[in-house]
Amino acid sequence: MLKSPPFFIIGNWKSHKTIKEAVMWWQDFSAFWKKSPVNPGKIKVILCPGFIHLTILKSLITLSKIPVFLGVQDISPFKEGAFTGEIAASTVSDLVSYALIGHSERRKLFAEKRGELVREIEQARINNIQPIYCVQNEDMLIPHGCQFVGYEPVWAIGSGKPETPENADQAAKNLLKKQEQDKQIKIIYGGSVTPENVTGYRMTKYISGVLPGGASLKPDTFFNLIKNCENA
Ligand code: PGA
Repeated sequence: MLKSPPFFIIGNWKSHKTIKEAVMWWQDFSAFWKKSPVNPGKIKVILCPGFIHLTILKSLITLSKIPVFLGVQDISPFKEGAFTGEIAASTVSDLVSYALIGHSERRKLFAEKRGELVREIEQARINNIQPIYCVQNEDMLIPHGCQFVGYEPVWAIGSGKPETPENADQAAKNLLKKQEQDKQIKIIYGGSVTPENVTGYRMTKYISGVLPGGASLKPDTFFNLIKNCENA
C-alpha cells in the first residue's frame, strides 16, 4: 500500500542530555516552531528523549500547545511490579504515546531477543502506547499487529553513511508486501538521516517517516530537518 500523510519524524536522543540540557533544547526548539509553525497534517513530530526527561518535557510541551508527541526508547516486557530498574509501560502511559521496541542497540548491546520484544509490544499495547518495532533487515519477521516498523540497517546507524532512498524504499516495499494482513503498517527509515538528505526519503513511495538519532540532538538541526521535509 502506498503511504499517506502525515510523514513521521521520530527523534531519538538515545543516552544523551542532562535535564537542564533537555529544557534548553526545548526552549530553542519551541522558539523555532513558534516563529515558523509546522503543519501537523503534513508532518508528525515524535521525540524519544531519555526516561528522565519525560516529565519535564511533557509539562513544557503541554504548556506550549505545540503538537509534538513523546515516545520512550525502550519499555519493560514485565508489567508493573518487583522488577528493579525496569520502566513498566503502565508507569509512563500518561507521558508517552509511542515506544521504540527492538532498536538495534537494544538487541546488540543488551541482548534483547524476539520473545522479550513481543512481550514489550504486548505491554505497550495494553497501556495504549503505540509500538514502533525496529528491524535491521527486510527478512526479519514483524509481530502481528504492529502499525509502525522502523527499518534501520545497522551499518547506516551513526555512520554518516545512510542507505539510499531508492534502496530503503525497495526494502520498505518488500516489508510491506510480507505484511498483507496489516494493511495500515507504516515503515520508518532510520540511519544517518540529516536535514540535507531527509527530502530523499520524503519523496519515496513506501517510506512513511524517518528516525534521526544524531540529527535530533541539536534543536536547530532537528528543526531544519523537519522544515526541509515539510517544504519538500
Ligand atoms: P543515527 O541513528 O541517525 O544517529 O544514525 C539512527 C537510528 O538509531 O536508527
